[in-house]
Amino acid sequence: MQNWEGLEYSCSNCTKCGLCQTRNHVVFGVGPRDADVMFIGEGPGEQEDLKGEPFVGPAGKLLDDMLSIIDLSRESCYIANIVKCRPPHNRDPLDAEQDACIGYLRNQVALIKPKIIVCLGRISATRLIRPDFRITREHGTWTERNGIWMSAIYHPSALLRDPSKRPETFEDLLTLRQKLRELGCKPYTV
Ligand code: URA
Repeated sequence: MQNWEGLEYSCSNCTKCGLCQTRNHVVFGVGPRDADVMFIGEGPGEQEDLKGEPFVGPAGKLLDDMLSIIDLSRESCYIANIVKCRPPHNRDPLDAEQDACIGYLRNQVALIKPKIIVCLGRISATRLIRPDFRITREHGTWTERNGIWMSAIYHPSALLRDPSKRPETFEDLLTLRQKLRELGCKPYTV
């Protein structure tokens, strides 16, 4: 396991998979390094690749709105992705690319020690919760792993494509708020 400095250095120079050849920026992750909650997407899109920051494009705007529904701000959470470099044309990251990159995320989780991880979408949920996780059936459900509560909600991009999924996501966000309260997470600490 590396400390933050070592980890950031390794990521910014990473050549473990082919995505390094087309990236503009490695999108390492943002947020407090003692965050109680982590949100994990699948991989950077165009805007993220240009800026070097996760969820800054249209999906990021919706993510901010989703967080504000339950009084969370982006500044209070750690936000990262399964892969740290943009897959060309926003295709799904390949298994080999995920395998090459996942160690960095695991290192981030080990340093942050969050109470809650929320997977954004299928790719993140199948990688972090269970390989056969079914996002349509199992979004909003909770499971504890090594002392961390894990859940998945629809990816904001899926909600942009299909607004009919939004009411279910609203319910999932209320469940998340309940969990934040139960666990005394910032900013719900009493
Ligand atoms: N979609 C993701 O999965 N991650 C981002 O950072 C942006 C869009």
